[in-house]
Amino acid sequence: MLTPDGRPMAVARTFKPRRRRMSPTRTAAFDRLMPMYGLDVEGPSTSTEDIFGRAAPVALEIGCGAGEAAIASARAQPEVDLIAADVHTPGIARLLVDIEAARLSNLRVIHGDALEFLHRIPSESLDEVRIWFPDPWPKPKQRQRRLVTESIMARLVPWVVHGGRLRMATDVEDYAEQMLEVCSAHSELQGGEVERPSDRPITRFERKGIEAGRAVTDLEFTRRGSN
Ligand SMILES: C[S@@+](CC[C@H](N)C(=O)[O-])C[C@H]1O[C@@H](n2cnc3c(N)ncnc32)[C@H](O)[C@@H]1O
Repeated sequence: MLTPDGRPMAVARTFKPRRRRMSPTRTAAFDRLMPMYGLDVEGPSTSTEDIFGRAAPVALEIGCGAGEAAIASARAQPEVDLIAADVHTPGIARLLVDIEAARLSNLRVIHGDALEFLHRIPSESLDEVRIWFPDPWPKPKQRQRRLVTESIMARLVPWVVHGGRLRMATDVEDYAEQMLEVCSAHSELQGGEVERPSDRPITRFERKGIEAGRAVTDLEFTRRGSN
């Protein structure tokens, strides 16, 4: 949902800011690499072509943690430009270091709320949105913080191109049900549960879930229509 001047409306945040101290080396790496690979949440309007210097399919990963999946995916798919977002500073610092080490030119990082970044790029800019193992927010009074809700999908879907995909995975059973319900109810989305995609790298949270014996559900929805 946008305000009259095109900015996202204030809603409950899907994360809780965590303050964790970083080592001086990590802090120095963050400060050095953020201007090279980082995208500010606030700033002038831009486009994915300007960001990456080319016209290519673009994916946004919301909640990338320390970026293991983002790095693996950017390496495996050099033809896709990937924007990976998280609010967790040590995770972003680690991702920045890994981008430099792997010399990846198709990966950029948002240190902040991915949803707030959207106003910087035109709607229908994203070929894919990836939400891998979002925070489960299990208590009833926390549910409003979940990332896959009706109101957040209403904000997000306009940024996906027609024919583009929204891909999700979770190991929380009632969250998988919620994803299915919310996305099936969206008038512009069609899709449902899918087999584990072979191109989805394993993530840190997925590994933890598997170790704890939890089953993983993958879902994929396509935005209807064509450009
Ligand atoms: C449970 S972790 C999963 C991390 C990673 N995807 C994995 O599977 O290992 C969810 C992450 O989403 C991030 N997050 C939640 N809402 C976000 C938002 N609106 N924008 C960016 N990151 C967000 C949190 O900070 C957290 O690091």
